[in-house]
Amino acid sequence: MTINCRGTARRAPTEFPFDPTEVAPRLLAWYGAHGRNLPWRHTRDPYRIWLSEIMLQQTTVTAVIPYYQRFLAAFPEVTALAAAPPEQVIEQWAGLGYYSRARNLHRAAQLVVGEHGGHFPQTVEALAALPGIGRSTAGAIVSIAFDRPAPILDGNVRRVLIRLFAYASDPRGTKAEHALWRWAELLTARERPHDYAQAIMDLGATVCTPRDPDCPGCPLAALCQARRHGLERQLPAARPRKSVPLRRQVALLVEREGRYLVRPRPAEGFLGGLWEFPVADLRDHETPLSAAGRLAQELGVVGRQAAVGRLKHAYSHFTLELALVRVTGLGEERVAEGGWQWQGPGRLAETPLHGAHRKLLERFVLTGASGDSNE
Ligand code: ADE
Repeated sequence: MTINCRGTARRAPTEFPFDPTEVAPRLLAWYGAHGRNLPWRHTRDPYRIWLSEIMLQQTTVTAVIPYYQRFLAAFPEVTALAAAPPEQVIEQWAGLGYYSRARNLHRAAQLVVGEHGGHFPQTVEALAALPGIGRSTAGAIVSIAFDRPAPILDGNVRRVLIRLFAYASDPRGTKAEHALWRWAELLTARERPHDYAQAIMDLGATVCTPRDPDCPGCPLAALCQARRHGLERQLPAARPRKSVPLRRQVALLVEREGRYLVRPRPAEGFLGGLWEFPVADLRDHETPLSAAGRLAQELGVVGRQAAVGRLKHAYSHFTLELALVRVTGLGEERVAEGGWQWQGPGRLAETPLHGAHRKLLERFVLTGASGDSNE
């Protein structure tokens, strides 16, 4: 705002279609009335805020809450997390997905303790140097834990900005990235950054939602250029659908005296440290039963085989079609080396199997069902 010679307020000349200084006060007033009451909002402890931000990176608030509370009960301080064995960290994370987050979390905790004397750094640059913390997460921690202005650009904020400025081009390129960060920076409140950060994230999560934005309930509706042009449902511009490859596997439910064969995956690499049933990729022209026969032989388990069921599981870079084959009637043969353990259903329910194998367990072992399943 500027004051003209008659002493009345007028809008500053701007390249923007609205006065950007109006955004923060509107958002803050809305947040006071409609902000969500979430467990990590009762603390300014950077450890707890960092943990919540990492868990929220690819997971919804509803899914995160029980994990957040359980994780903090296991590791109440950054020192406890840093000192924990990796398997214990993975165990507390199991079920949240995107496990590289857990490994980075653990490494970052060790760096905070080892190199920062147990205190989280307070700048975007220093935070972003820790594993698993990008520019947006660093901005969220600086704003929320230290109440210093720093821009944020997570998925929800992106959508709010794209609609507010009616950004109609592909929002994923470097040009978009540049414009969006510039707008995020421009709008970030100098006053109450702690509240502003959470307000704009909440607005994206609860009002400016992907499919059905609640424009009448939005404090920015009067400024929103997408709404002005009737584009709020068209923006952000849709990504051309990418087809992901299909990967076909068979897993074995090798049973002996009511217990099943499982092992932890290697700590490094895809789904590292999580547990699995014996599993193999199907080769060209192989059926699940023929691949199961090959895998059973490699493992040294000879028995009767029967198809149990199938399911699909989506990863970001491929879709998995996974068949389950039961192997029973084993003799006393020795199982091949490789860290295998026999576990009964009670123990298995507690074992951090990775997501697809946990689904197998829940659908076909714990319930005893069989058949195909498509989720
Ligand atoms: N998404 C990411 N961080 C969040 C936060 N602090 N509150 C609500 N939603 C979020």
